[in-house]
Amino acid sequence: MSDSAKPQTRYLKDYAPPPYAVSAIQLRFELFEESARVTSTLEMQRQHRQDEAGQTPLMLDGHDMTLHSVTLDGQKLDTDAYIVEPERLVIANPPERFTLEIVTSSKPQDNASLEGLYRSGDMFCTQCEAEGFRKITYYPDRPDVMAPYTVTIEADKARYPTLLSNGNRIDGGDLPDGRRFAVWQDPFPKPSYLFALVAGNLGCLRDAFITQSGRRVALELYAREQDVAQCHHAMAALKKSMRWDEERFGREYDLDVYMIVAVGDFNMGAMENKGLNIFNTKYVLANPDTATDSEYEGIDSVIAHEYFHNWSGNRVTCRDWFQLSLKEGLTVFRDQEFSSDIVSGPVQRINDVRVLRSHQFPEDAGPTAHPVQPDSYIEINNFYTNTVYNKGAEVVRMLQTLLGRDGFRKGLDLYFERHDGQAVTVEEFISAMEAANGRALTQFRLWYVQAGTPQVRAALSHDAASQRLTLTLRQSCPATPGQSFKQPFHIPIATALLDQQGQAIPLRLVGESNAAPAPTERVLELRATEESFHFDGVAQMPTPSLLRGFSAPVKLDAQLDNAQLAFLWAHDSDPFNRWESGQEYATRVMLGLVAARARGDSLNLDENFVDAFRACLQDDALDPALRALALTLPSEGHLMERMTLADPQAAHAIRSFVRAQLSVRLEAELLTAYHAFRVAGAYRYAPLDAGRRALRNLCLDLLLAGQDSAAETLALNHYHNADNMTDRLAAITPIIHGGLPHSDKLIADFYIHCASSANALDKWFSIQASAPLPDALPRVRALMTHQDFSLRNPNKVRAVIGAFCGGNPVRFHDASGAGYAFLAEQVLALDAANPQAAARMVALMSRWRRFRRDLAELMQKQLQRILTQDKLSNDVYEIVSKSLNAPADD
Ligand code: TRP
Ligand code: ZN
Repeated sequence: MSDSAKPQTRYLKDYAPPPYAVSAIQLRFELFEESARVTSTLEMQRQHRQDEAGQTPLMLDGHDMTLHSVTLDGQKLDTDAYIVEPERLVIANPPERFTLEIVTSSKPQDNASLEGLYRSGDMFCTQCEAEGFRKITYYPDRPDVMAPYTVTIEADKARYPTLLSNGNRIDGGDLPDGRRFAVWQDPFPKPSYLFALVAGNLGCLRDAFITQSGRRVALELYAREQDVAQCHHAMAALKKSMRWDEERFGREYDLDVYMIVAVGDFNMGAMENKGLNIFNTKYVLANPDTATDSEYEGIDSVIAHEYFHNWSGNRVTCRDWFQLSLKEGLTVFRDQEFSSDIVSGPVQRINDVRVLRSHQFPEDAGPTAHPVQPDSYIEINNFYTNTVYNKGAEVVRMLQTLLGRDGFRKGLDLYFERHDGQAVTVEEFISAMEAANGRALTQFRLWYVQAGTPQVRAALSHDAASQRLTLTLRQSCPATPGQSFKQPFHIPIATALLDQQGQAIPLRLVGESNAAPAPTERVLELRATEESFHFDGVAQMPTPSLLRGFSAPVKLDAQLDNAQLAFLWAHDSDPFNRWESGQEYATRVMLGLVAARARGDSLNLDENFVDAFRACLQDDALDPALRALALTLPSEGHLMERMTLADPQAAHAIRSFVRAQLSVRLEAELLTAYHAFRVAGAYRYAPLDAGRRALRNLCLDLLLAGQDSAAETLALNHYHNADNMTDRLAAITPIIHGGLPHSDKLIADFYIHCASSANALDKWFSIQASAPLPDALPRVRALMTHQDFSLRNPNKVRAVIGAFCGGNPVRFHDASGAGYAFLAEQVLALDAANPQAAARMVALMSRWRRFRRDLAELMQKQLQRILTQDKLSNDVYEIVSKSLNAPADD
């Protein structure tokens, strides 16, 4: 790419308020098969004078459209009265107040970016976050410009009987030529990124919700007519979310109608457009034959997430995109708390931490690492990251831990009260927390501006004579791009000390009065680089249980040995730490085997580990869902993170070895548990049933890891007896991934089960693309020629390319480099149509420096090859150039 074509970087420090405000916007959409014509009428006022000449040019963002006319206060402007640049429209010096009418058109049917106005199947829909509105019309497309919208949609009556936009429908009717119109008005001023429009021939599931103050809200869930029957779970999730937000946070819905539309082609999970959410079908449609238990849970959490945005995002929005975590981190935290209440607290927490560890920690340690509040970006779409979302949620969670639930609630109430109807910054959020609690959070703010995952080391010393225990905590944080030195963070460390029976002992800090009983768990606040905490009345050296519930997003080294880890795995009263200890124990055992393999030693799985695993499997006091999590071995990705240089072949070989060993050595116990956890009756999604299925299916999976034919028969029966997707998938995954004899037959049979549902087909594709077999890549290429595959559909791209490159490490990282060449080829093909999707795929190679030298070089070559292409999007350019240029990985 030539220097002049290099994309620009945007900086938070350059923020300036908008020179013009929009007090009202009217949009008229005339939708046709070949084009869409948009008439936008803006009421604008100058906010202040800007340049030295006393002029304030009006600059409206816009691209990929045809401009037909510009009319100012009723006067159609000559083409020399404005300038059309590639990405904006400039009017040099408009009056202080004026009405501007702009007519543009575009071709939605050719818009493959899934941003702006586009077509998905037979319908028209929009996606405007973050900067998609500028592909619909020229506009100050930034979140701090808020306006009330009135939207008229006109379309062919037979093809598009359903015409939707934000707010309330205030008019509608027939037009000449078999056309029809609808008018929508949204009384809440909003930024352009929350605008939405849908036109199609859609079925609708209707229900209603009575708010806490007694208002009736119509609930409407739109999907293709044949899919409406699959919307019931989503509707129930919506009602639960609405009630929960009232009860937990006092937040009530504001409009008279809440609409959700399911679309098949969508870049992300869903979008919180005011009163008119647009959802990827994956997060709306479900029935037992198409969706797994975890997909039912995914629907609950995404429905809740988008609903919660109505307050954390829409009523109070972001001043600029550097503040993205203000709405996303907070809303993820809110949806996690919701799920935790409806599933099981510890199960939810463990799953959330798994996501953080497997995606955010690596991001934070790689070349695209950035703070929760980034200070610069080239393409904002690249910043919808695990850091902004999931680490952002952890930061909000720490606030709740530090302030207590009530203090946090007070802070949130004050935030909404102060800023309702405004576009604000992270700073305003923290200030509200401080003001409501009378507590300074100065050091805490560093969590928003310093990237990288802090490391905490803990050491215990015990003095028997004085019965005093000292816990010393020491923190550090590795350098990240652009940030070589870090100041110490303010880290809440939930702590307990366990005696030999696993009982948490009272924690009395030295100097504290002993009038009241001391708590058995305390949140210690680490602020300095190193701090010691002293406890009195500790008779014997205890086993520490630190960072309980994962009280901070850090890497903890508690310096425990395997025996202590096994003890905590069996006895810790904090369910999160029970899981954590088992994972750490397994990781160490596996890394030991990786080292043995490298030395050429024979491999032997430690009997103590097998015993601890058996004890956990048979611990009937442990809820099945938790047991399933506690018995899931750390992933190959997790092992690779812990190697000096990641070796995918070694990680795969060792994880397979351990699974096979457990299979053989615990065959009888696994079989017993497999039979014991059968779920009686017909399938229905329910958390308790899902937990039993998870444990039972884990046993089945391990039984098959021994590759014996009796186990395959068991799995075949499991498959044929299954009345749901969860069990079917659990039965065939080990057969297909193990390349067992019945594999091909099952692939063919499973296809028949999936053929009528796009979401089910995604699983049919991905189960094959993620099979760690020698011919994986040719299979993937063949799948891409399948009639049901399309490079234009992000769900299919994720199901095949994503499942292979992100979910099949041993084959993607093949020493030939063929996997990398394949990814580069797909990224370039995708980039021309859908840059957002292309950038997400190319990021799978961004941490190339972490890998074995031969692999690293092959990845680097492919990244360099991509960078030499002429027409790269900003999205791909940013990820690739940062990946190649950033200093060495941790
Ligand atoms: N705000 C959406 C959410 O988190 C995210 C989103 C949906 C999005 N579609 C997008 C972000 C397209 C960027 C581009 O719920
Ligand atoms: Zn969101």
